Order: sequence, then C-alpha cells, then structure tokens
Amino acid sequence: MPGLRSETAVDVRNLYVSYGDYLALENISFSVPHPSVTAIMGPNGAGKTTLVRAILRLIDFDEGEIKVFGLDVRENESEVRNLIGYVPQRERVREHIPVRAKDVVLLAKMVRLGPLSLPTKRDIEEVKSALKSVLLPREAWNKKFSDLSGGQKQKVLIARAIVLKPKLLILDEPFSGVDTVSQREIMGFLSKLKDKGISIIIVTHDINPIVEHIDNILLLNRRKIAFGTPQEVLTKENLSKAYGISVKVIVHGGACYAIIGDRHA
Ligand SMILES: Nc1ncnc2c1ncn2[C@@H]1O[C@H](COP(=O)(O)OP(=O)(O)OP(=O)(O)O)[C@@H](O)[C@H]1O
Ligand SMILES: [Mg+2]
Repeated sequence: MPGLRSETAVDVRNLYVSYGDYLALENISFSVPHPSVTAIMGPNGAGKTTLVRAILRLIDFDEGEIKVFGLDVRENESEVRNLIGYVPQRERVREHIPVRAKDVVLLAKMVRLGPLSLPTKRDIEEVKSALKSVLLPREAWNKKFSDLSGGQKQKVLIARAIVLKPKLLILDEPFSGVDTVSQREIMGFLSKLKDKGISIIIVTHDINPIVEHIDNILLLNRRKIAFGTPQEVLTKENLSKAYGISVKVIVHGGACYAIIGDRHA
C-alpha cells in the first residue's frame, strides 16, 4: 500500500567532525526511524553536543553525510532548520534574557512568523498550552527568565522549542537541574509527541528515569559504541567500552541499567 513507506527522521553516514587537529567524531553512522524516541548517551567529551550541532548545521563536518527527513543538511539548511526544534545544552544558553518566561516562548513564535506580524489569540493559546505541557508553575509564567530556577528555565526552553511544532525535537541534556518527578512527567509528555508524529532525540546522562520511553539508544565515545534498543545497547560490555571501569550495571527485569560515575551534577 502506498503511504506505508517508513520514514527516516535522521540518517547519518560515515560522519567525521574535527576541531582543528582534534577529531571529535569518527566514522559515525546510524539511522533514526520516524517517529521514534532516541537517546544519545556517552561520557563528557564523547561528542554528543558536537553530533547534535552537526545535524543542525550549527557546525560544519569534515566527511560524511547527514540527511533529515531525506534532505541533505548541507543543501537544505533553512528547510532542515524549520523541521527541527532544538533545546540547547543549558551551559550554551544566554541566561540573562531580559523578558518574562512566557514571552521567551512567544518571541520564538513571532520570530518564526516574521517581522511586522502581531500575535493572534491562537498564538497566545499555543504559548499557554506549551507552558502547561512542560509543567511550568503558573506563578513562574510572568517572572523574568533570568529570575527562574535552573529547572524552570529548562522547562521554558523546552516550551520554546515545542511551540514551533517541529517534526523532530532535539534536546541536549534537557533534564539537568530538573527534579526526577518533573523529568518523568516531561518525558511522558515528550513521548506522547511521538504519537502525534514528532520524533525526539534526547542527549542524556541518566537514562534510568526515562528508559521506558526510549526506542533506541546511540552510545557514543568519539566513535559509535552501539546503536539499538535499550536492551541491545545497555549491556555491561558496551557501557564499559563507553565509560571505562567507572560504570556499574544493574540487571533488572531483563534490562541493564547503568550507574555511571562521571555524570553531571
Ligand atoms: N568549539 C570547540 N573547539 C574545540 N574543541 C571543542 C569545541 N567544542 C567541543 N570541543 C571538544 O570536542 C569534544 C566533544 O565535545 P562535546 O561538547 O561534543 O562533548 P559532549 O559529549 O557533549 O560532552 P558533555 O557531556 O560534557 O556535554 C571535547 O573534547 C571538546 O573539548
Ligand atoms: Mg554536551
């Protein structure tokens, strides 16, 4: 039957990325089916952010090919950018945005709509619904972004990405500073986006609170260690290859869980 052709959200082939003499990613290939939820895991400096930035064309790559929904990212920069929602790693975000939380989200929408456009009632409703879906408490909506707590800032940044209704949402460590209960709730919400035809790629150090929502994991340490389902990837052998001896693995209900020594605070 036509129309049943399975789509690929991201296809990375033989990717090499370097910073000067330093080879940050070496011969990375993997393919993210659409719609799906993929986690990218690996120790500090593994090249996770580098990979995400290469997919978004925020940095160039030396060799290889990246396609997003079949579009070569080098040849279709702006189309690809419009298909992807991006929540950058918090260290990379300018924290002193001098506007209210809800306006951070609204501004993203206005930028997309172009100059001279005014927000409609519907735009405002969409902003509210994005802020609700990330569980930002009401009393924080009118606070200045810079006055929010770390976890609240993170929620606003996620809302800013989803309000643009991307077909692929890439989040780089979105849960740093977010408590475990909110992590689970937001992840539950993100995985519902999959049912609406949105693929999710999430860079994370702590897979445990979200593993039930993950279809595939890319385990990385400059090279690809493994790509596959959590059960396939989270083996003691793979995790030791990625993290060295600091990893402890707990087997529970047929799945392996990693307790990783070097993870972020
Ligand atoms: N702009 C840059 N110039 C030079 N080297 C860089 C640059 N950005 C990253 N690197 C190096 O590339 C490697 C991969 O960095 P990257 O930020 O992709 O790692 P990461 O897996 O995201 O780590 P973390 O878990 O700490 O966020 C590191 O060794 C880093 O020092
Ligand atoms: Mg990073």
